[in-house]
Amino acid sequence: MSKTSLYAQTLERLRALLHGETDEIAAMATIVGELHHTLPYFHWTGFYRVTAPGLLKIGPYQGGHGCLTIPFTRGVCGRCAREARTQLVPDVTTLPYHIACSGTTRSEIVVPVLDPTRRVRAVLDVDSDLPAAFDETDACQLAAICEFLTPLFPVVPP
Ligand code: SME
Repeated sequence: MSKTSLYAQTLERLRALLHGETDEIAAMATIVGELHHTLPYFHWTGFYRVTAPGLLKIGPYQGGHGCLTIPFTRGVCGRCAREARTQLVPDVTTLPYHIACSGTTRSEIVVPVLDPTRRVRAVLDVDSDLPAAFDETDACQLAAICEFLTPLFPVVPP
């Protein structure tokens, strides 16, 4: 089955599963479980949450253990949180600031999770053991999936 069809199925399932859910951790855990077990090239799938200014803390994930804490100043996840932009990394060995949690990871995508005021509240990080596993389809579909979380974040004053 094509990547596009797998994402379409996942999106439909998540729409049903998340209907009426108001807890962002429950929603993140459900998203990660569905993605990780549907897309065959997802070898680590997880959220990092912004728990303090400039700090990411591990959230729900599937795969081997990841770093528990990542400052905005470090890693692909930190860059995504800092710039509020998706990071597509076809070859992690070319990025000196990539944080290697697993020696088998070859490519990575990190997508920001925004609240209703478009502030970054988390990032979705996916690693693959395959080179160049992610493309614009993944970027687009994962961004659409992260949009499920947007209304679950209370708006905080600046
Ligand atoms: N590779 C990430 C760190 C998180 S682990 O891959 C789970 C990064 O460079 O930010």
